[in-house]
Amino acid sequence: MIIEPRMRGFICLTAHPTGAAQNVKNQIEYVKSKGVIDGAKKVLVIGASTGFGLSSRITSAFGCDAATIGVFFEKPPVAGKTASPGWYNSAAFEEEAHKAGLYAKSINGDAFSKEIKQQTLELIKKDIGQVDLVIYSLASPVRQHPETGVLHRSVLKPIGDTFSNKTVDFHTGKVSEISIEPAKDGDIENTVTVMGGEDWAMWIEALKKENLLAPDALTLAYSYIGPEVTEAVYRKGTIGRAKDHLEATAFSITDSLKDIGGKAYVSVNKALVTQASSAIPVIPLYISLLYKVMKEEGVHEGTIEQMQRLYQEHLYTGKPIPTDDKGRVRIDDWEMRDDIQEKVAALWQQADTDNLSAIGDLEGYSKDFYNLFGFDYQGVDYKADVNEIVTVASIE
Ligand code: NAI
Ligand code: NA
Repeated sequence: MIIEPRMRGFICLTAHPTGAAQNVKNQIEYVKSKGVIDGAKKVLVIGASTGFGLSSRITSAFGCDAATIGVFFEKPPVAGKTASPGWYNSAAFEEEAHKAGLYAKSINGDAFSKEIKQQTLELIKKDIGQVDLVIYSLASPVRQHPETGVLHRSVLKPIGDTFSNKTVDFHTGKVSEISIEPAKDGDIENTVTVMGGEDWAMWIEALKKENLLAPDALTLAYSYIGPEVTEAVYRKGTIGRAKDHLEATAFSITDSLKDIGGKAYVSVNKALVTQASSAIPVIPLYISLLYKVMKEEGVHEGTIEQMQRLYQEHLYTGKPIPTDDKGRVRIDDWEMRDDIQEKVAALWQQADTDNLSAIGDLEGYSKDFYNLFGFDYQGVDYKADVNEIVTVASIE
């Protein structure tokens, strides 16, 4: 069939398999162009199909020559209906990995559940013995708690006061004022339960118990800080509480890994267009201004540039991993540079519907958004008839 983007609100209901494959190939080419990284050899990526997790998997495989097991929650295709983008990404990744002679297998299901954890442990045991790197890159609006069965929902709300600021509908370029009501009873706890560190710790505990972590194993989860304009709704909002919890969990995991010399870190990443971030109010306007300034300064990065730099310049240098005073790895350093932030803050003051396409990078935002779903890639014939039924070669 011929696949076109079909939008509903802030999501795209279709995905393009050839475009998704192009995305994966582009990322692989980038990683290869940066040379070999003497790093991880056996890697588990939880949240491996899109965004930072996919780029982590690609960097592990094509930068470090590592075997990878990817866990994700994606919709396979059915006749006449496309898969979710992460499904096509993973199919393309496996195809390229296998061509390169690399071990790669995937597990599709709810990473929060006991069943998927158990299945993953068994696969590691059977095929690769142990892992020396565990990337935890889940972004989910819901989590069913494995002990209580309760379905928790995360929310993106300020804490205390109503938050009002500008936002943009990046499809139309319309800038408007929005107000977001503060968190109510249970919102903070629920958001922490979904996006905090509890599940990360559960994964590591389960792996360790079965002796599946190699000596000196590393584990990383991803966080965000960002600027003052998004602080009320992000870092000081409900999601920020979850990130505080995630960051604190790194220390307790490191404590629990003392006997094998293992370490847990949180890496603070740059704001980027992903399915997760486009759903957050205010962030798209900030990102469109940030992209403009970072591109002008020649320091713009996407998820693959971020992950490649994380591995090559922070994690695997042969020296201790550099961190800030809170123990966090900072690859948001270029985003947070004073000169960049000053320029973005000045543009923020001016931004309106009339000037945004000139002072912001709406085009770049929109292109990145379509790219997430496999659309708008150079070299892909979108008029061609494609088979939507694509299998992930070694899905468990
Ligand atoms: P994403 O939406 O691109 O990726 C989420 C991944 O989690 C996908 O592989 C998806 O299949 C998987 N997933 C979701 N629910 C699952 C479940 N129940 N079971 C198994 N897999 C599941 O998100 P993105 O943006 O790459 O986020 C990853 C992490 O990076 C998050 O912790 C996010 O907060 C953080 N981060 C994101 C930034 C951004 O600007 N996008 C900036 C800094 C940090
Ligand atoms: Na991810």
